[in-house]
Amino acid sequence: MRFLFLGDMVGRTGRMAVFERLPGLISDYALDFVVVNGENAAGGFGVTEAILHDTLAAGADVMTTGNHVFDQPEALSFAPREDRFLRPANYPKGTAGRGSGLYEAKNGARVLVANLMGRVFMHPELDDPFHAAESILSDAPLGEVCDAAIFDFHAEATSEKVCFGHFLDGKVSVVVGTHTHCPTADHMILPGGTAYQSDAGMCGDYDSSLGMDKEEPLNRFLSKVPKRRMEAATGPATVCGLCVEISDRTGLAEKVSPLRLGPLLGEARPDFW
Ligand SMILES: [Fe+2]
Ligand SMILES: [Fe+2]
Repeated sequence: MRFLFLGDMVGRTGRMAVFERLPGLISDYALDFVVVNGENAAGGFGVTEAILHDTLAAGADVMTTGNHVFDQPEALSFAPREDRFLRPANYPKGTAGRGSGLYEAKNGARVLVANLMGRVFMHPELDDPFHAAESILSDAPLGEVCDAAIFDFHAEATSEKVCFGHFLDGKVSVVVGTHTHCPTADHMILPGGTAYQSDAGMCGDYDSSLGMDKEEPLNRFLSKVPKRRMEAATGPATVCGLCVEISDRTGLAEKVSPLRLGPLLGEARPDFW
């Protein structure tokens, strides 16, 4: 199975780059399944239902999110009815929406997608993401209930991310980090067969502070006095993500490559498709 993950889409420029590139990537690489993290798609803050629908129309099968999931209040009303929209699974019981789901890929494979959030330097009050992941997998074990399992771990600390990867190694197809908006160079297949990358990076303008216009973030580091609202940067976006060839027999990863397409970062494409 050919799987593509795209990191946090930031603002209009990030969305447009994904909407323009994704249909071609799906046909050129004959992708079977695509997950896009959309937590910053609406001006950097959350996601609207219209943006969710546009992302699905561009070819994404599922949208994951993170700490910005409910920045747009309308997400509280559409999350319960949009089963391709995920928020972190370890949010408190009763939170709108869902944290995981089972979907069908183009090749007929049953794909489990789960979205979890880290606690280190983030939200210590969340439920333990390790035990939450274990409980999701006990309901849908790889090789029994699903043929592939994709975990988006939305977290700040690389220590927590890499431990989460090792915790799930051999039990899932992919553990990919999101949230830091900077792609890491540690894409690999862990010893048990799980594809791993600490962070997929963002789909956004890298001439910025994490996809936001850099002037105001810099001002806040220098003066501590906010001058204006944070706004998404508007320059051309680089699309960043992770490509994984997943075994149809075992559901584990066989090949892994970063994807980087755009003006500022060195280009990267899979050489195996
Ligand atoms: Fe983000
Ligand atoms: Fe985030």
